[in-house]
Amino acid sequence: MIKMSAGERVEISLKINGKVYEERTEPRKLLSDFLREECGLSGTHVGCEHGVCGACTVLVDGAAVRSCLMFAIQAEGADIQTVEGLAKDGQPHSLQKAFSECHALQCGFCTPGILMSAVDFLDSHADPTTDEIKEMLSGHLCRCTGYKGIIDAIEQAAFRRKEGENVNGSGDTI
Ligand code: FES
Ligand code: FES
Repeated sequence: MIKMSAGERVEISLKINGKVYEERTEPRKLLSDFLREECGLSGTHVGCEHGVCGACTVLVDGAAVRSCLMFAIQAEGADIQTVEGLAKDGQPHSLQKAFSECHALQCGFCTPGILMSAVDFLDSHADPTTDEIKEMLSGHLCRCTGYKGIIDAIEQAAFRRKEGENVNGSGDTI
């Protein structure tokens, strides 16, 4: 339930990376800005602010969403995962490990968004083809890598998951 206050700030409650946040925010604050400015989670990057580059992608109730196209108040009561929540107990997520090993990033600006889309993608594509990975990546702009390393990394993470490796050794399934 959203409560309006006289100062036109609204109180919202949402869960981010397993932690409950209860904050007062402006009704027009984008979820991407809310995460970065109100919650200090600057791993979610903001590029175009128009839903084009994919840098701001987070998971909202398990689905990849462009957080620049959503108001924070629309996430009231939602369960959100950001890139900060991928590593568990000091262990990188299998996608983070694969990105590192396959040299899938250079400046890293696009990386958090691609990682979050890839988490959602691999949940529904246990054995993806290269074309399916390319299709998923068509919603993300990377100005540095040429995408080859990113595709290799996602293929590697999918292969290891198929072989039974936990995503980060914790048994967690995100
Ligand atoms: S910043 Fe959201 S899609 Fe570019
Ligand atoms: S690594 Fe620089 S934009 Fe992708």
